[in-house]
Amino acid sequence: MFINTRKNKNTLALLLNPLLIFSILIQNVSSLSVSNISECPPIPARSGPSDIGDLRPDDIKVIGALGDSIMAGFALEGINDDLGGTGLLNLSTLTEFRGKSWGIGGDEGAITLANLVKHYNSSLEGPSVGKHFAYFCKEDDGDGCDAQFKHGEVDVLDAAISGGIAASLDMELDYLLQRMAQLPNVNLVTDWKMITIQIGSNDQCASCSGNNSDVTADAYAAYVDAAVQRIRNNVPRVLVNLVGTFNVSGLYELTRGQQYCRPLFGQPDWILNRMECSCFKGTDQDRANMDTLSAQYNAKLFEIYQKYNAEKTEGFAIAYTPANINVGGLPLEALSNVDCFHPGRLAHEWISKVVWNNIFKPQAEKPYSNILEYNANEQIYCPTEDDRIRID
Ligand SMILES: *[C@@H]1O[C@H](CO)[C@@H](O)[C@H](O)[C@H]1NC(C)=O
Ligand SMILES: *[C@@H]1O[C@H](CO)[C@@H](O)[C@H](O)[C@H]1NC(C)=O
Ligand SMILES: *[C@@H]1O[C@H](CO)[C@@H](O)[C@H](O)[C@H]1NC(C)=O
Ligand SMILES: *[C@@H]1O[C@H](CO)[C@@H](O)[C@H](O)[C@H]1NC(C)=O
Ligand SMILES: *[C@@H]1O[C@H](CO)[C@@H](O)[C@H](O)[C@H]1NC(C)=O
Repeated sequence: MFINTRKNKNTLALLLNPLLIFSILIQNVSSLSVSNISECPPIPARSGPSDIGDLRPDDIKVIGALGDSIMAGFALEGINDDLGGTGLLNLSTLTEFRGKSWGIGGDEGAITLANLVKHYNSSLEGPSVGKHFAYFCKEDDGDGCDAQFKHGEVDVLDAAISGGIAASLDMELDYLLQRMAQLPNVNLVTDWKMITIQIGSNDQCASCSGNNSDVTADAYAAYVDAAVQRIRNNVPRVLVNLVGTFNVSGLYELTRGQQYCRPLFGQPDWILNRMECSCFKGTDQDRANMDTLSAQYNAKLFEIYQKYNAEKTEGFAIAYTPANINVGGLPLEALSNVDCFHPGRLAHEWISKVVWNNIFKPQAEKPYSNILEYNANEQIYCPTEDDRIRID
């Protein structure tokens, strides 16, 4: 455990004002961060809020998520052979470890946003549990990607699709809305819900493939906007937790020639991630463009946040959490060694902590300009009875 000193910046005031010292000490005592959520004290119970601006984590009864293979937990566990063996891909590694996905995984002991929420309300519905073989589906390929959604017992409300782009969100919502209505113990009208959306990594990669009209900043924004609007129109008592994009281009240099990534025949670029991301077969300029696009997506997400924030009601709100993680600065072991493209368990755990810690900060204090560096010992903020999931 350690005491968070985030608020303890003004040493001059400290020297000058004993009263302030006292109040800072009080603040610090009440502002606790721990390495294991089980060490966070419970929040004293109360009757739930009538307004979404008053939402605490223990009020959330239903959690859901939209996204891509990252949210699906694809390849999260890695090959697990200490880099020995043939290094050839084993089909069983092409698995979505949904129960460990940073945003929605509900496996026992997994460090995920859903399990952090669950610490405060054990009757949380929606977390995905377990794993299943990956199913890839981009846009509507004729069958509506129905095959993706044949694992409702595992996925529960993790509607993410491996390969998904912003254009896939509508299809993901088809599943999410239908599945939510089937859940036992859920009162669709009165229960408070949180739906996390994180999308854009494949969109950046697709900017280098032929037909990319779906992944311009405007197209991306229109798809995300439509998803938010559909949630607002169809789901009572819901907080949309919009999470920023990741600059995935950083993986290119990070993984080049790395033994951990199993380059075939010793060729530094014969790594699976070169196949997964079109821009990884392209030029440095292509990859720089990915970053520009990612920044444009984030600017659009912020506009969507502002637009819907202005239209919030007592039962609907949106929060935007920037996720400026330094992807190129991740330690290799935080990536999946299946492809060195997908985050592994360590990165998932870290992202869940970063997002959790930031949902209790008002918009003005969320990390917009600072770049977040991986920290294996990232602490977990313990919300107090006075904390709210901030939408302001
Ligand atoms: C957190 O603490 C609980 C209870 O002591 C323990 O069961 C669990 O394994 C710990 N989790 C981690 C990730 O260390
Ligand atoms: C494939 O990987 C799984 C999980 O690591 C392992 O249990 C299985 O034995 C492997 N299969 C082959 C054919 O190597
Ligand atoms: C969990 O949430 C439900 C619905 O909001 C509420 O009735 C229940 O008291 C909460 N449980 C805990 C332990 O806070
Ligand atoms: C390109 O994408 C647009 C938008 O999805 C689609 O309408 C169009 O048919 C596609 N064109 C080709 C040649 O695939
Ligand atoms: C992502 O790329 C953009 C555009 O180059 C840059 O402004 C931003 O700081 C980068 N973010 C991170 C976290 O690296």
